[in-house]
Amino acid sequence: MHTETVSRQCVAPTGALARLFTPWSCRDVAARNRVVISPMQQYAAHEGLANDWHLIHLARFALGGAGVVFAGATAVEPRGRNTHGDLGLWHDGQIEPLARVAHTLKTHGAVPAIQLGHTGRKGGLQTWWHGHGPLNQADAARGEPAWPVVGPSALPTGEGWPTPEALSVDGIARLVDAYGQAARRAHAAGFEVLEVHGAHGYLIHQFLSPVANTRTDAYGGDALRRQRFALEVAESVRRHWPRQLPLFWRISLADLDSGDLRHEDLTGLCAALRERGVDVIDASSAGGISSYPTRLQSRRSDLDFRADDGQRLRHEAGVQVMAVGNIIVPEQAEALLQAGQADLVAIGREALYNPNWALHAERALGLDNGMAHWPRPYRMWLTRRAASADAVRDAADLRRLQARQHQGASHAGV
Ligand SMILES: Cc1cc2nc3c(=O)[nH]c(=O)nc-3n(C[C@H](O)[C@H](O)[C@H](O)COP(=O)(O)O)c2cc1C
Repeated sequence: MHTETVSRQCVAPTGALARLFTPWSCRDVAARNRVVISPMQQYAAHEGLANDWHLIHLARFALGGAGVVFAGATAVEPRGRNTHGDLGLWHDGQIEPLARVAHTLKTHGAVPAIQLGHTGRKGGLQTWWHGHGPLNQADAARGEPAWPVVGPSALPTGEGWPTPEALSVDGIARLVDAYGQAARRAHAAGFEVLEVHGAHGYLIHQFLSPVANTRTDAYGGDALRRQRFALEVAESVRRHWPRQLPLFWRISLADLDSGDLRHEDLTGLCAALRERGVDVIDASSAGGISSYPTRLQSRRSDLDFRADDGQRLRHEAGVQVMAVGNIIVPEQAEALLQAGQADLVAIGREALYNPNWALHAERALGLDNGMAHWPRPYRMWLTRRAASADAVRDAADLRRLQARQHQGASHAGV
């Protein structure tokens, strides 16, 4: 097996105020800060090809000051798509449109990053706006037919879901290679950070799961055997992804709840991934291995980053950890970094709500530097705006206060 120790290749952060805005470096890549835009699929691709939507959507986060910007789950083969609209890197023709995206991100100050994935038995879904169930006849009539899905075992995700074909050992080997080839293409497109999606009930996660994986060969059985597919993928990706570039891996900390994975299993997996060249564990809390789809995101707090588990993983597995999940305000992100619970902080929905999240966070943490990191064409106008906007806000606050006092006085008079 090809192994290497990488943790030393990633520079340990030095203590500083507003650590969120200290640069992050790993291998030969340096990011201007520790704000990462989490991978978020857009269901906007056709035949796996990126287009203007991906470019505009992601470029907003680069202009908005984030250090690293991720393109969402990108399928390593057509069967591994979630929906017809997923991005793909299963052939060389898909490189060029993604190269446009990577180049734009880099030109505007962010490290371009991309996540590779395969949905396994969770493939062939409708987009959210068509219901997010398995593709059916009505979808086929709209030109979006279902496709045969694969998994570790011939067990469907749930009632009404397609039964996957259990992958043969040869089929597994082909898929392991497909991950490597997709990593090669991601590099050719100019991405500088690569993440493998090993969470949320998708293919790698299905192999880890004693619920989805009932194989009796070398890829099934106890926790170590169920990890084999993940580790082979990590090796294949590392073979094709240059040594000088960081590799991330997404896991689901929610697995610890179901009792299907013990903490030692998860720590062991992360340590084994580190030995194979994974630098950062992206510690999601969504979608534990036995929970999809029924219990997924049933409570809002299901997505909360599990800081204590993340911290434990960081120390016990010797990996860097990226926090993600319901990180809303800058102070929350800063506290995670200060407490040594994470090395990077990923922002998902808040960034959709406010693509300038990083620039606003910098200001909120008192590091505005005269708006020095805002896009140059905006800077002078926004500096002027700040003074007049403050005055308008103060006046509005005063009016609200006066109105409340007036109300209070009339109630007192009743
Ligand atoms: C629109 C959307 C698309 C997403 N697509 C992906 C994806 O492609 N890969 C992935 O691992 N997670 C995906 N996620 C999950 C996010 O990366 C993130 O883990 C989750 O939203 C929790 O973070 P937040 O609370 O900051 O949004 C997606 C989330 C959203 C809102």
